[in-house]
Amino acid sequence: MVRKSDIPAPTSRAAGIDICRRRGGRFVNCGRRATDSGVATCPGNRAKGDLVLRSIFAGLFLAAIATAPAVAQDPAAGEKAFVVCRACHQIGPSAKNLVGPELNGVVGRKAGTVPGYTYSQANLHSGLTWDETTLETYLPSPQTIVKGTKMIFPGVKDPQKVKDIIAFLKQFGPDGQKVQ
Ligand code: HEC
Repeated sequence: MVRKSDIPAPTSRAAGIDICRRRGGRFVNCGRRATDSGVATCPGNRAKGDLVLRSIFAGLFLAAIATAPAVAQDPAAGEKAFVVCRACHQIGPSAKNLVGPELNGVVGRKAGTVPGYTYSQANLHSGLTWDETTLETYLPSPQTIVKGTKMIFPGVKDPQKVKDIIAFLKQFGPDGQKVQ
């Protein structure tokens, strides 16, 4: 972490001099004030110091962005995007099978395993386990991944929304309680 003390001190600091004189629009002879515990810098030099500080922080900020994952997951946004799924699916403590099976604990669940729900043969025998990777390919185009599925839904095309929906689904354990 960069502390202010790591930033090179402003120029022209001579011990014992505690005045700032202006010469030709620039501040000169800046020094440590005997009465001050801190370092007194000239307004002109301080601005320069701040500029250095600001550019260092800007650099750190850009580095942080560069190393962050390309798309972060946002469960709150996922809850909103899940609205399209609610036409057919329920999730949460009182979730029931509707047109589609309830989705509690679906992330990590084997396909076709919700008791009391009548799956298509395609889904039942897909051999898939719904983890983040399979859901990322399935949700944008269900019929491509499970040919013959009765999930008649064109899919969610926006990769960010897909990730957010998965983050939302992941929150629910098999009993419908939030696990995270
Ligand atoms: C038009 C109704 C409909 C919509 C909308 C819909 N689904 Fe489905 N979904 C189904 C049906 C029906 C099945 C059962 C598929 C089968 O048996 O072939 C299913 C199955 C699934 C499965 C597999 C479940 C399992 O136990 O194997 C997942 C996961 C799933 N849907 C997630 C979603 C998500 C997430 C959305 C929203 C982005 C969504 N679905 C939107 C109807 C729908």
